[in-house]
Amino acid sequence: MVTRACDIVLLGPPGAGKGTQAKRLAAAFELLHVSTGDLLRDEIGRGTALGAEAREYMAKGELVPDALVGKMLMGLLHGQAAAGGCVYDGYPRTTAQAELLDNLLAELGRRVDAVLYLAVPDEAIIGRMAGRRSCPACGAVYHVTANPPAAEGSCDACGGRLVQREDDREEVVLERLRVYRRHTEPLLELYRRRGNLQEVDGLGGVDEVFGRLRGALEARHR
Ligand code: AP5
Repeated sequence: MVTRACDIVLLGPPGAGKGTQAKRLAAAFELLHVSTGDLLRDEIGRGTALGAEAREYMAKGELVPDALVGKMLMGLLHGQAAAGGCVYDGYPRTTAQAELLDNLLAELGRRVDAVLYLAVPDEAIIGRMAGRRSCPACGAVYHVTANPPAAEGSCDACGGRLVQREDDREEVVLERLRVYRRHTEPLLELYRRRGNLQEVDGLGGVDEVFGRLRGALEARHR
């Protein structure tokens, strides 16, 4: 078990399982799960101006501008909920975002302690996203075959109606993968050079992958 405030970045292509695993890591290590994708979907759901702007980019599979996402993150990191450390899921996605995260954490006397890269090949990603179903009410994520809910179409956690994400259409998924390669993949080299990148095989069952991530983190903090 990690015993001090700890900040962990979970990197990986869209659909790699970051959200699924970040929730588990947050629960196991008592960290706040920070998903910029979930935060943006929440803004859209509440009909805010930020949400309306973000939706335009998200629907096309493009990145929301750094400044908009950064503002959201800034508020969150200065809050009490983030004081014990966070698992960042979907942030950073550009080198400018990586810099902002470093600066925000430095202001709090913290740093990125570990970067876990969830490696999943494109063929598996397409299948994972095509079968994903999410609960807009509580954020739970399922897969029609790999991680199905007990009753089809209904969330186990809150009974909400499960939906397919607007950006999980095949043409948008392909654009998201292109955007990932262009803007986010270079971060692997950045963190590798710093010596805090650990690559974890993201193939296999959800429990199996979680065991690998947990093992990688515990090995660092031993
Ligand atoms: P975001 O929501 O962050 O999407 P993403 O990074 O593309 O990742 P996903 O949520 O699609 O996948 P995931 O890796 O979390 O996988 P999951 O666990 O769901 O961002 C969406 C959009 O918001 C972006 O395109 C962008 O426009 C914008 N945005 C967000 N952050 C931004 C930022 N920082 N800057 C700018 N723009 C930003 O799993 C996928 C499926 O696989 C599920 O069905 C799951 O049940 C299943 N699954 C999980 N693990 C396994 C397993 N081991 N075996 C089989 N199936 C599995």
